[in-house]
Amino acid sequence: MWPFALAVDLQRGGLEPCNNIIERHLSDMRGMYIDEAATEQAIAQGDPLLYEVNQYDVPFETGQLLVVTTVIQPGRVGDEYYMTKGHFHEQIDRAEVYVGLQGQGYLLLETTGGEFEALPVKPGTLTYIPPYWAHRMVNVGREEFIFFGVYPADAGHNYGDIEKRGFVKVLVERDGRPTLLLNPRHEMR
Ligand code: PA5
Ligand code: NI
Repeated sequence: MWPFALAVDLQRGGLEPCNNIIERHLSDMRGMYIDEAATEQAIAQGDPLLYEVNQYDVPFETGQLLVVTTVIQPGRVGDEYYMTKGHFHEQIDRAEVYVGLQGQGYLLLETTGGEFEALPVKPGTLTYIPPYWAHRMVNVGREEFIFFGVYPADAGHNYGDIEKRGFVKVLVERDGRPTLLLNPRHEMR
């Protein structure tokens, strides 16, 4: 394989060239927000775009790296901020690095053993996601939250566990401030 360079738009999050763009609307995340009535209402009223992923695909082989930017829109479903689905890597021992480019967010992380961490992310924050930690980004600001990521190309994504029960904690707005609350669903499902 030949080396290459691409342009990262640090303000708007685009990659140029880019060969894999994924859009996620609220209907792609049914059941992942606590407030199901607010979810259905927002879907009926136009099904908002929550985030867009720009990835430069290389062969999904051991030794290769994938580079990716994600743009999360500002907004909430009920009190809960717009966020990525979140996942473990399918190869659960694969790590990842995220770097904040624009806006204000939080990285939520947890292990299958119940350990949990929440790290604030702003432009210039580099976060290191170790092997075995599920990860989700949350936009707690009033503008787009944009971050860059790089991870092993053989990692894969495992959404299953997170889709069923979410993370240990949810990020909601209380008195105008991002607030972590225990996720009532985490034990239920
Ligand atoms: O691999 C990653 O962690 C990222 O590229 C994410 O896939 C991206 O930010 C979108 O999040 P998710 O895959 O949880 O929908
Ligand atoms: Ni990942």
